Amino acid sequence: MGRCTACGEWNTFLEEIVRKETSGRSGGRQGLGSQGITAVPQLIHQVEATKTKRIASGSFELDRVLGGGIVPGALMLIGGEPGIGKSTLMLQVAMQMKDQKVLYISGEESDLQLNMRATRLGFVHPACYILTETDTDALFSHISQLKPQIVVVDSIQTLTSPHLESAAGSISQIRECAAEFQKYCKEQGVPVFLIGHITKDGSIAGPKLLEHMVDTVLQFEGDHNHMYRILRAAKNRFGSTSELGIFEMRDNGLREVSNPSELLLSQRDEQISGVTVSATIEGMRPMLIETQALVSSAAYGTPQRSATGFDLRRLNMLLAVLEKRCGFRIAAKDVFLNVTGGIRVDDPAIDLGVISAVLSSNEDIPVSQHTCFAAEVGLTGEIRPVTRIEQRIREAAKLGFRDLFVSKFNMKGLEKKDFGISIHPVTRIDQVFRMLFA
Ligand code: TYD
Ligand code: MG
Repeated sequence: MGRCTACGEWNTFLEEIVRKETSGRSGGRQGLGSQGITAVPQLIHQVEATKTKRIASGSFELDRVLGGGIVPGALMLIGGEPGIGKSTLMLQVAMQMKDQKVLYISGEESDLQLNMRATRLGFVHPACYILTETDTDALFSHISQLKPQIVVVDSIQTLTSPHLESAAGSISQIRECAAEFQKYCKEQGVPVFLIGHITKDGSIAGPKLLEHMVDTVLQFEGDHNHMYRILRAAKNRFGSTSELGIFEMRDNGLREVSNPSELLLSQRDEQISGVTVSATIEGMRPMLIETQALVSSAAYGTPQRSATGFDLRRLNMLLAVLEKRCGFRIAAKDVFLNVTGGIRVDDPAIDLGVISAVLSSNEDIPVSQHTCFAAEVGLTGEIRPVTRIEQRIREAAKLGFRDLFVSKFNMKGLEKKDFGISIHPVTRIDQVFRMLFA
């Protein structure tokens, strides 16, 4: 059918083949129902607490994102664009868990390719099994023989369930295969990582319902042109979603980055205009991030605005504030903004740093490399307070910054002398401007 009779849209129908019941359906699977065992009601506090003990994955960053380790029986989905490093991360984790029997199922690479990758990563774990099988029935029969303690599936889109006729990667196949693993996880208490591809629009390919079925959705993201990769939890039934893990892609695999600030600040000796540093918080972690701005006269009629790692609409808003509230003639200029390191920042505390970088480039006067910023800018040009200011101040002080600009409204209950950095409470942009460039 080309056109939907209900909504009138064209080509919105999706084919879904109704499962045909086969007699050998339960073969190889350890379905509760299929074995005649059913769950019984029990008191919540009587559930064995030993079952909830988390397993360390050997990766500090992954454990942090998961909320302190892998929960037994958890079904976890790892999404990310092709080539971002999902397979590398999971194979590395699989090989790091020395005291666990790990099964790495790959429908994407051959045994030889996996071996090459493992050799490239430099360590081979004696109890890490690989399996290049995509049929779920065959797969579960191997699983029931091997009895692994951790299972990794790379990727859910390559699996096929023989109970359905549709092709691998179709919506009904993805849903069915995920459901089979969900069942397996919950019954056997074995944690399973499913790797999932991401479509162009950024959602994990396959229906949204995959996200409902799993306990944890992790996103692995980063800029292909940069080495940094960020792992964040988009959903986590067993922990907070505000944690994040940072990795660096090396030629021998992913390296964990425990002190991101030092890496994200470009090393510079001389003072250059248009560069500022902001104390932001990503997830739960304070991080110092450098922003670079370039303001130049527009060569063509319409000025260009471009931002990398920062929301372009927010940049336009900040420029409008500068124009209207502070009288800077920026409307006829090209403005380019870049957050270094390929990181995307959503924390509003970067506003003041962005504005200062723009002004510094516009005036061609450098901001001292020992100065940093942590404040939001409002529509009237006022400097607004930001959350967790103490953490930001400490991080800036720890990294040797000498001056920090914050909102005056952040100073309530804070003792300026406590931190070993001089704090400048400000209320309006023009005040900052005068302090920096006058
Ligand atoms: P991969 O894990 O295959 O990505 P995904 O499974 O998400 O598609 O990683 C692919 C990229 O990572 C590839 O372009 C090369 C790079 N890479 C390294 O830089 N160093 C390494 O040690 C490995 C294994 C990969
Ligand atoms: Mg891969």
